[in-house]
Amino acid sequence: MPSSSLARELRAVIRTGRVLDDPAELDSYSYDASFAAFLHPCPPDVAVQPTTTADVAAVLRLADRLEVPVTPRGAATGQSGGAVPVKGGIVIDLSQMKRVLDLDAPNLQLFCEPGVVHADVNALLARAGLVFPPDPGSSRMCTIGGMVSTNARGMRAIKYGATSEWVLGLEVVLADGSVIWTGSPGSRALQSASGYELSKLFAGAEGTLGVITQLRLKVRPLPPARGLTLAAFPSLEATTAGLSAVLGAGILPSAVEIFDQRMIETANRFRPDLGLPSAAALLLFEVDGNLPGVHYDAQEIARVVRPFARQVDWADDPPRVAQIWEARSVAGAAVGLLQPKGVRAYAGEDICVPITRLGEALERIQAISAEYGVPIASYGHIGGGIVHAALVADLTATEQLARVEQAADAINCLALELGGTVTGEHGVGFVRARYLEREHGPALAVMRQIKRALDPKGILNPGKFV
Ligand code: LAC
Ligand code: ZN
Repeated sequence: MPSSSLARELRAVIRTGRVLDDPAELDSYSYDASFAAFLHPCPPDVAVQPTTTADVAAVLRLADRLEVPVTPRGAATGQSGGAVPVKGGIVIDLSQMKRVLDLDAPNLQLFCEPGVVHADVNALLARAGLVFPPDPGSSRMCTIGGMVSTNARGMRAIKYGATSEWVLGLEVVLADGSVIWTGSPGSRALQSASGYELSKLFAGAEGTLGVITQLRLKVRPLPPARGLTLAAFPSLEATTAGLSAVLGAGILPSAVEIFDQRMIETANRFRPDLGLPSAAALLLFEVDGNLPGVHYDAQEIARVVRPFARQVDWADDPPRVAQIWEARSVAGAAVGLLQPKGVRAYAGEDICVPITRLGEALERIQAISAEYGVPIASYGHIGGGIVHAALVADLTATEQLARVEQAADAINCLALELGGTVTGEHGVGFVRARYLEREHGPALAVMRQIKRALDPKGILNPGKFV
């Protein structure tokens, strides 16, 4: 169906939202933050900005009747192409459904729409002494709906788990336009052992099983203090040994981040005031809780890693803690300095490997960098095994672009070879879909059965996942 008639049909069924069909506007819906979408942008035929569940349901009913693909989208900060409409059709842009509906503080839960930005939720919760613990690097941009749809992880997953751990219930519009609530509709209970955990099925499904239109999220008291221990190691073996020693010492850090040697060097060039110690790798351990506990744990971590490290510092005063976190937050931007005219190419950089294979993973990533002539610096949420192998390219040098894709493929294959996964936190999208067979084996057939049961016409975010 031509876009103009699709837009006309949509305008007829939508009550409050906007329908966009100007090609200039549609261009901005043709990509997310992934390198793959930069190389192969895919504009939709039409984009819709609904403001109510009823509008989303109307879009789905129309799409079901016309058998037109529907791709839900939040802030498009994704790095795996999950929100890119690879088969065209309709993009449902949920960024205007951004209301916080109810903060039920005594019951430790929050009701909101999917388009709320993560940092805004936590700013609101902090005023009530509460927090929604999952914390991705893109907090100031990414939406709660996108985080839930990709089951995002981030810095604090080692202690607080994936985003889906914090989902109590979801309002979902199904492929035929019907609307359900998972997690017992009307419930304000914090736990339930009743039935299949449908919230966990829709969280992480990247819009392939339904469109999330409201969320009931679990929140918890905001820890009053944070402390950090920063350790610099002479070798990758010492880094792995130090990490294992801390994880075996009876302390559960709230974050453990790594910088490899290239990341340290490029961060220091980007922000010389940070003055990171030079080393084969740095580990940043964060602990949270009440101040005496934090003080004790940060020092205890320093004591445990000292035999393996070249230099160890700890801090629990908020300005110093914020300054050290600053080094982590500039990592993504700093890697561009690895090459003249270089920018970060998000192409296969959230592999997750067993902690015991970490040193090997980092070494082989540098070998891949040399083999393909693509600068790579590694950092990541290493307490959970996540390595961000940040690839850098000159986007005007067409000949380098193919090598970036080959290097990314080699990194994804390395993750599987080491007993890990191709995506520890960013999701499958269309970028990682080709690895699922190898990663899941016969379990992929079960995923396909679930997909067919919930989306028999295959209209929900096609070309992704299964
Ligand atoms: C981060 C994103 C890349 O941790 O996941 O910065
Ligand atoms: Zn990350």
